[in-house]
Amino acid sequence: MKQKLMFTNHPGAAIDELAAGMSPSKVFVIVDTNTEKQVLPLLAVMSESVAGAQVITVGAGDVNKNLDSLAGIWRTLNESGATRSSFVINVGGGMVTDMGGFAAATFKRGMRFVNVPTTLLAAVDASVGGKTGINFNGCKNEVGAFAEPEAAVISTIFFNTLTTQELLSGYAEMLKHALLEDRQTFIDLLDYNFAGTGFDKDRLLTLLQKSVAVKERIVSEDLHEQGIRKALNLGHTVGHAFESYAMTDRHSPVPHGYAVAWGMVVELILSHMELKFPSDMLQRYAAYVRSNYGVFDITCDDYPALLKLMSHDKKNASADRINFTLLADIGDVRIDREADVENIKAALDIYRDMMGI
Ligand SMILES: NC(=O)c1ccc[n+]([C@@H]2O[C@H](COP(=O)([O-])OP(=O)(O)OC[C@H]3O[C@@H](n4cnc5c(N)ncnc54)[C@H](O)[C@@H]3O)[C@@H](O)[C@H]2O)c1
Ligand SMILES: [Zn+2]
Repeated sequence: MKQKLMFTNHPGAAIDELAAGMSPSKVFVIVDTNTEKQVLPLLAVMSESVAGAQVITVGAGDVNKNLDSLAGIWRTLNESGATRSSFVINVGGGMVTDMGGFAAATFKRGMRFVNVPTTLLAAVDASVGGKTGINFNGCKNEVGAFAEPEAAVISTIFFNTLTTQELLSGYAEMLKHALLEDRQTFIDLLDYNFAGTGFDKDRLLTLLQKSVAVKERIVSEDLHEQGIRKALNLGHTVGHAFESYAMTDRHSPVPHGYAVAWGMVVELILSHMELKFPSDMLQRYAAYVRSNYGVFDITCDDYPALLKLMSHDKKNASADRINFTLLADIGDVRIDREADVENIKAALDIYRDMMGI
């Protein structure tokens, strides 16, 4: 993986160093309307290249990760004389890093770009791994490209203005990485919490660095998602089902990371049933999720719809068996495990019991 990861709470210096090494013809900064207000002024004070860059602002929120906004970025690049030797700095959450990365990867067949993630989710997930793109025709991430930034400059100093909900949403992906890695990494995360007036930025940066290293290792082993990258689906088969169900059936969307946190409870129960995943770790995780994320409330009447969503999520060949990434232990990943519907229903029963529903 050629992407350079820079973990620093002095991001301005890192960005300027990168820019100096490239001697770009022109520098562009892509932000959304929120990061333009909340992050750009801070970063402009720290970085000469950001202060002197041409700013391109897109609408905030995933609804704006679309062709119109992308065309707007291309148009501004075109009208401002951007060339292949120009340089793009994406400053934002996953929406900006996905779309800004795709704009940079396609304009003039590819300009160099750097991601400066400003949400925890973008730092731990979206800005690393080379997936870029936009939503299209009602489908998420339908058009895109694998394109790696020159670097991701990862800091926790921008997270002050995020809500606890946004922080916890990103933290669920960190919990996932820890489960894919080892017991100590996982316990360190359970011991750290965001409660109270603030969080320890430097400690979070250290935890983040470890977490991103897990994704980086898995992605570098499988850049085009042929095999082991499916490990990163842990929690997502059930999580996506919860997420879609909340959105389309209940008209009450839940954050992606929350759905993943709940989904991982179900998938760890399934891991325990199928592969003897240790029950002490399962109990600790479920208790952590319950007290920090609350519960996703379901009854057995919801099972048929949830199972249908799970089987669609993975394009399963058979309706009776659904494909999962499971764990035999923390760090012991088994991809392409099929579970049958009766076991999944039993896991959902245990989930309701453990979560006190
Ligand atoms: N490429 C990948 O591998 C990958 C992986 C996971 C998610 N994603 C994508 O990432 C996106 C979700 O990421 P996200 O949660 O970061 O979404 P986002 O970029 O929409 O950010 C969430 C909200 O927080 C605001 N925001 C960003 N930084 C802020 C800050 N520091 N202070 C205050 N507000 C701030 C944004 O303006 C937005 O309103 C989705 O589009 C998803 O498809 C991509
Ligand atoms: Zn996810």
